[in-house]
Amino acid sequence: MSDDRSADAEIKGVLEEIAEVAGFLWQKGWAERNAGNISMNISDISHQYLKSNNFELPVKLNPTFSNLANQFILVTGTGTRMRDVFKNPDKHCCIISLDSEGCHYRILSKNDAGTGLKPTSELPTHLAIHDMLAANKRPERVVVHTHPDNLIALTHIEEFCDENRINKRLWSIQPETCLFVHDGLGFVNYLMTGTDELAQATIRALQNHRVVLWEKHGCLAIGKTAGEAFDLIDILDKSTSIFFTCKKAGYHVDGIKKTDLDELRRAFGIAGK
Ligand code: 13P
Ligand code: ZN
Repeated sequence: MSDDRSADAEIKGVLEEIAEVAGFLWQKGWAERNAGNISMNISDISHQYLKSNNFELPVKLNPTFSNLANQFILVTGTGTRMRDVFKNPDKHCCIISLDSEGCHYRILSKNDAGTGLKPTSELPTHLAIHDMLAANKRPERVVVHTHPDNLIALTHIEEFCDENRINKRLWSIQPETCLFVHDGLGFVNYLMTGTDELAQATIRALQNHRVVLWEKHGCLAIGKTAGEAFDLIDILDKSTSIFFTCKKAGYHVDGIKKTDLDELRRAFGIAGK
């Protein structure tokens, strides 16, 4: 197979991975209208192949992302519906190319008229995360942002607008949360959607976590694959759903005892929290 054909196949594979998770987000009911966005650093796919395509005019980035110099990011378009990304990922995602200083990006155009698609309005957060991941040589390359009902509902309760409290509660609901999201979620107080401020607060929260909960907005996770990022949010939302089910039935939620959680952590070699 020629290099071009293998790069083509790789991009097809990436789009299939994103489409599958976009479908999950829609089925979960976490993706009303255009809610949510997904991005993936695809710089390991042949640069030569990607560079041989046409690109639209450069768009200036402020701040700049020096760790993303010459890199390629595949990202869902702003206004796109996850159910449409599922059905037709090629039409609802675009590839952007950053210049040699990470100061500008250009959208890969599929024909002379371009794609007509602009990257997600949360691009500041997606790029800031990919920049941080590249700077720290971390293995994660996918960012998934979505609007999970239960987790968002939790942030409408003042008592749970606190990172420590929220994690303790969610870990106590089921062993999976303690095991697979042992680092818990990072909490970000309400900030305007699509801003650098939100991006910076998210980067700070990701220093110790792989999942971030944006107060009264949604959730975001990073993963080596889109499925891995989705799983983290799914597990946390399941914990929250069980918590609310007990509450709605009128019961106090006891949760797993601290001594049992400690034993679980010891058995699976997870540092004490
Ligand atoms: P986009 O349609 O621009 O991706 O926005 C959706 C969203 O969830 C914003 O936070
Ligand atoms: Zn959102």
